[in-house]
Amino acid sequence: MTAHFSIAIDGPSGSGKSSVAKTIAKIFGLFHLDSGAFYRAVAYYLNHLGVDFLNDGQCQKALESIHFEISPIGIVLNGHLVGEEIRTSENSQIASKVSMIRQVRVFVTKVVRELSQNQNVIMDGRDIGTVVLPNADLKLFITASIEERARRRQEEMKQQGYSASFEEMLKEIKERDHRDISREISPLKPAPDAILIDTTDLSFDQVVEKVTTIIQEKINR
Ligand code: DC
Repeated sequence: MTAHFSIAIDGPSGSGKSSVAKTIAKIFGLFHLDSGAFYRAVAYYLNHLGVDFLNDGQCQKALESIHFEISPIGIVLNGHLVGEEIRTSENSQIASKVSMIRQVRVFVTKVVRELSQNQNVIMDGRDIGTVVLPNADLKLFITASIEERARRRQEEMKQQGYSASFEEMLKEIKERDHRDISREISPLKPAPDAILIDTTDLSFDQVVEKVTTIIQEKINR
């Protein structure tokens, strides 16, 4: 085990991994980093700057102008607290495209590694166990059927006051899955040493219980 305990949680969109990671962080007193939020924040920022995503020079220049910090209430980009604006359907699609860009991946990987240094951390994303924290003490891969993930996403949108049809959510998730799995750099895949958890038929509390048991076993070993 390394001096600091690290847990990597990967999985596709809508698998609930971020919510699980957040709750587990509270239970075990770990620092939680949602790497997807950084891709979303970068996407939102680049889009608002009007950056041409296919222009390497423009992307690099924009990335160099970004400074991230963590405050007790969230991620801060160049002094501005990042809020719910990064969670809209539009920005989700932009983030999915922006996260395919090599420079963006290098940038976000560096940022999240630095921010999690010297901490007991739980980090969630798509490539945490494979690329960002390959030496993590524990790696989990959380998934669920595509229909169940679309249903959860629809519910989440409803709670945020947006109306969205199940078909729309299904289409959106299929598109994002396709990009996550087929991209050339750091595609979504379980690390060979990851524990797979299918949450399709599990409640949120059941998933948290399962993960808690796995962590406790790991700590007591
Ligand atoms: O987990 P999320 O849906 O909030 O992530 C937003 C986008 O960022 C998603 O399209 C996938 C991408 N992402 C990634 O490529 N690698 C990560 N480690 C985390 C997220």
